[in-house]
Amino acid sequence: MRVLAIETSCDETAIAILDCEGDVQNARFRVLGNTLLSQIEIHREYGGVFPALAKREHAKNLVPILEAALEEAELLHEDTQAIPEEMRTALAKILEREPGLEEQFFEFVSECEPPEIDAIAVTAGPGLEPALWVGINFAKALALVWGKPLIAVNHMEGHVIAALASGNHVAQPLAGSDVTDTLEVKDVRFPVLALLISGGHTELVLMREWLEYELIGETRDDAVGEAFDKVARMLDLPYPGGPEISRLAEEARRESSDTLFKLPRPMLHDATCDFSFAGLKTAVLYLLKSEPDMSEREKQHVAHEFENAVTEVLWKKTSRAIEETGAQTLVIGGGVSANTHIRRVFTEKIKSERSEVTLRIPSAALTTDNAIMIALAGFYRAGRKEFATDIAANGNLSLAP
Ligand code: KG4
Ligand code: ZN
Repeated sequence: MRVLAIETSCDETAIAILDCEGDVQNARFRVLGNTLLSQIEIHREYGGVFPALAKREHAKNLVPILEAALEEAELLHEDTQAIPEEMRTALAKILEREPGLEEQFFEFVSECEPPEIDAIAVTAGPGLEPALWVGINFAKALALVWGKPLIAVNHMEGHVIAALASGNHVAQPLAGSDVTDTLEVKDVRFPVLALLISGGHTELVLMREWLEYELIGETRDDAVGEAFDKVARMLDLPYPGGPEISRLAEEARRESSDTLFKLPRPMLHDATCDFSFAGLKTAVLYLLKSEPDMSEREKQHVAHEFENAVTEVLWKKTSRAIEETGAQTLVIGGGVSANTHIRRVFTEKIKSERSEVTLRIPSAALTTDNAIMIALAGFYRAGRKEFATDIAANGNLSLAP
């Protein structure tokens, strides 16, 4: 089946079109079109994602991005389409809260043939609700005008499946990205433990069988990406902070593995698989207060030690969860899994301490938010005939009940 997927949960507007075949045991995907527009530059001056602005940008960009994705997939065929009055009224109602999108939508759908796709998948949550709604309403309007079924996707499930899929790079890479145009999900050994680390999430989730989730541990306060972003701000680094901290820390690491400062490893020895990062963030704040006017080199050391502390806690808790659950596969997903040090440490630790476990980390282009991962998850949900009649945005949608 051919899935068109839409992602607008945060500050990336993304659409992908994938040919999907097989079943859960052995699924193959071909990326026909993949477009993504990041709003990072726009949000940077606010030091974080500003929801109303994200919503406006998604509304402005969805139609051009859809056109580009269809074009890349060679599915864009111009032809005048008559939209019956009744249909037009229904579509206008769906899009009435998306100023900036409605006009572009009507212009677009009245000038192109319904494309040869079988379903439309869209992120329903978690994320910023105003941002999620734009994608959902756009998907609903397209599904209605083109007569296609809709699939609601949990963004975190997208991260999990993307991590499972990315180990098999086969064909030609798409221009300008490291996503190959063919992905496969096969030979997955269960149970699968997923460490999901992003701007809004830090959790360990267990999948004993396909698409059935159990929460093993989670943060009691800040998400790890949030801690990266906040510490970056304390160090006067721009948003998003994760890549900036990583860059500083890597510079310090090139010099030495020693750090000038010592930060706490919160909950390292506690008997749960839960996390806490608020105390670590506060410790950085106090350190910076006690040492004002830090040099660039000292800041590199703070970043280095902060990254070491985060990684140590993440590994320790993940290792405990592997022990407790007997997981055979570990996947790491979410934006923070792009972090070089975390990827390196997990790869080494699995090899040296947990060699029975297969580690699957997504390729760099699939770690941060994209629509390919939404299409992958959408295909799995479609396989269960989980089509949606209506979709509501849910900012707190969770994987495990
Ligand atoms: O999954 P994602 O793209 O969006 C959410 O769903 O939240 O994750 C974004 C988060 C941000 O907090 C960002 O700072 C962090 O991922 N991030 C990183 C790196 N790249 C992105 N954190 C640490 N190291 C990185 N290289
Ligand atoms: Zn994400």
